[in-house]
Amino acid sequence: TLPIRIAPSVLAADFSRLGEEVRDVVEAGADWIHLDIMDGHFVPNISFGPDVIKALRPHTTAFFDCHLMIAPVDPYLEAFAKAGCDSITVHAEAGPHLHRSLQTIRALGKKVGVTLNPATPLSVLENVLDDIDLILIMSVNPGFGGQKFIPAMLDKIAATKAMIGNRPIEIQVDGGITTETIGAAARAGANVFVAGSAIFGKADKAAYRTEIETLRRNAET
Ligand code: DX5
Ligand code: ZN
Repeated sequence: TLPIRIAPSVLAADFSRLGEEVRDVVEAGADWIHLDIMDGHFVPNISFGPDVIKALRPHTTAFFDCHLMIAPVDPYLEAFAKAGCDSITVHAEAGPHLHRSLQTIRALGKKVGVTLNPATPLSVLENVLDDIDLILIMSVNPGFGGQKFIPAMLDKIAATKAMIGNRPIEIQVDGGITTETIGAAARAGANVFVAGSAIFGKADKAAYRTEIETLRRNAET
């Protein structure tokens, strides 16, 4: 079974000092850095693009987990790969040619992720299971940090776990993950946990560390 990974989303970090925030959260125990890319079209908010990821890359060797909430996505995959993403996760809803997008990410040498909005059925993944390294189950509607975890997504995580069988696919959950909600998501079968406001909402690096430790402990039990 795959390890528990805590992936802070820098969406909730202080954008005026992102490099320092990324270094702090890695020193505080983060496993992956989750980078939320929003285009104001696929989702009703705008965040940042590949140049910001490129600027962050020298600040840490941590795994850059890039969640692209953009449509169309294919024209930008190479730019995100070159910027230093380690994994690239695309939305199944972002275009008509999911399989092509996944093949492009694979050809760029990156880990391949696919994500589903809360209302999108798992069945859209049935025919691409051997092409992916990570499935991200959105537990809020994408676009904003600080929303509440949608409890119906627990059954969806469990169904994902059943669907992947013995394939070594990471099951990630994103949205509303806190010390209160992480345990149920872990028991349902997720092993990668995105948390934005729960971590970066804390005051300083020492508080990030305490929060990450508590998240990890609650995911393990
Ligand atoms: C939402 C993003 C999330 C978001 C999570 O569209 O994909 O990664 O930053 O934020 P919290 O943890 O505050 O729900
Ligand atoms: Zn995200």
